[in-house]
Amino acid sequence: MRILFVTSNQGKVSETRKLLADSGHTVEQLLVRGVAPEFDEPKELGIEAVANSKMVQALILLEQEGIEGVAVMVEDSGVFLDAFDEWPGAKSAEVERQIGLEGILSMLREGMPRGAEFRAVAKVSDGVSTWSAEGVCRGKIADSIRGSGGFGYDPIFIPNEGDGRTFGEWEEGKYSGITHRAKAMNSLAELLRSPSR
Ligand code: IMP
Repeated sequence: MRILFVTSNQGKVSETRKLLADSGHTVEQLLVRGVAPEFDEPKELGIEAVANSKMVQALILLEQEGIEGVAVMVEDSGVFLDAFDEWPGAKSAEVERQIGLEGILSMLREGMPRGAEFRAVAKVSDGVSTWSAEGVCRGKIADSIRGSGGFGYDPIFIPNEGDGRTFGEWEEGKYSGITHRAKAMNSLAELLRSPSR
């Protein structure tokens, strides 16, 4: 299948292209007249609902544009802190903009659980069938901001599968196999590789 990925992030496109390379499917960014379309995201409903909503909107757009014979990929992710029930989750980007990583750290007072996880949902649909996968990366929130690599919550997130450094302290690209997104995309690649395809 020719898969069009709904994202404004070129990095995600190239990472996913590599992960799906041996599945026989090609991945490119969904562009309409050279522009990545923006869709409504019902962040209050969670990452699964955001992914589903983007999928429906993208499929409608393709139909309107008369683009046929392709599949659509959507992805949504967020960080979930054990101390605050399912928060910030789908609102991770918004919360980071509002209070910053310092704000998150100051909310985690002494004695509060510091466990956290990144979650990602990834889906592909050809308009008839939909394939869906999830990825989770468990870890904990550091006591301070450490490192300047990555993006978002990386400088305060210490993955359990790592060596005690925050993702922000990892060298670029080194951690891709253990991230929530890589796990979701690997599972999706497995589903797309299955003989029923
Ligand atoms: P999106 O799925 O790319 O829209 O990500 C939503 C938000 O979740 C990002 O803006 C970050 O705040 C946070 N986030 C998701 N994945 C990661 C990650 O791998 N590292 C750091 N922050 C992330």
